[in-house]
Amino acid sequence: MIYLNGKFLPIEQAYIPVLDRGFIFGDGVYEVIPVYSRKPFRLSEHLTRLQHSLDGIRLNNPHSELQWSQLIARIIAHNEGEDQYLYLHITRGVAKRDHAFPLGVPPTVFIMSTPLPPPPQALLASGVPAITAQDNRWGRCDIKAISLLPNVLLRQLAIDARTMETILLRDGLLTEGAASNIFIVKDDVLLAPPKDHRMLPGITYDVVLELAETHAIPHAVREISEAELRSAQEIMLTSSTKEILAITQLDGEPVGDARPGPVFQQLNQHYQAYKATMMRGQPALS
Ligand code: PDD
Repeated sequence: MIYLNGKFLPIEQAYIPVLDRGFIFGDGVYEVIPVYSRKPFRLSEHLTRLQHSLDGIRLNNPHSELQWSQLIARIIAHNEGEDQYLYLHITRGVAKRDHAFPLGVPPTVFIMSTPLPPPPQALLASGVPAITAQDNRWGRCDIKAISLLPNVLLRQLAIDARTMETILLRDGLLTEGAASNIFIVKDDVLLAPPKDHRMLPGITYDVVLELAETHAIPHAVREISEAELRSAQEIMLTSSTKEILAITQLDGEPVGDARPGPVFQQLNQHYQAYKATMMRGQPALS
């Protein structure tokens, strides 16, 4: 079951008009929220980022935080699987094709759920390969916009090279992955690029930095050069659906000793433990 504009219905019966501005212009924003044991993980942080994205495209939020929580609870209940990930999508609605914002048009609101398998054990054990590319996206990568053509093209480079992710460089600096945030370890310090308009402020990124702080893992947030990326002891990616994965090969070269490193191992253990406590402590939404 999905949710579309006030109705819960099977996805096969869900349609939007061709003049939807999401279809015509990619004029909308989205969120991806993991659900563990039927409880949304870091829901309030995801809804805060959704508000930031809506503000960034000057679209009113159609729902209060309470209304979103209630819709989300119903979608989770309507779908199979203890672990799911939710996709929320809001566009500027249906109107005659014209770049100017339409007046008095309700937004299109869509929510779907997909089963969320745990990260494959084999990938956690071996790490994954990645490639690099120039970051040729727009100047507001902090908005989680549905117009993802640059990300799609960049991510396809990774697929074509039989790797997991494309790590992006802008003006000689690391920004993020095509669909993830990137951390490195240098001189035994976990380094993360600063959150600004060049990257999506990842929810998993925040969790990782909080865990580093709590567990006294040396860390810093600062700009990371291409040379530092290429000589890193460890590289890792984070996202709501992939959690934390070690990147053990970059552009065909080994990262460190080409095995997931000690900082990754620690962070991943802490992440799994944190997830488990969060899910035990938090009552299921109803
Ligand atoms: N993508 N950067 C980009 C460009 C992303 O698309 C994502 C996530 C992230 C990580 O953010 P978070 O930790 O909040 O998931 C960073 C999602 C999963 C997607 O588009 O499917």
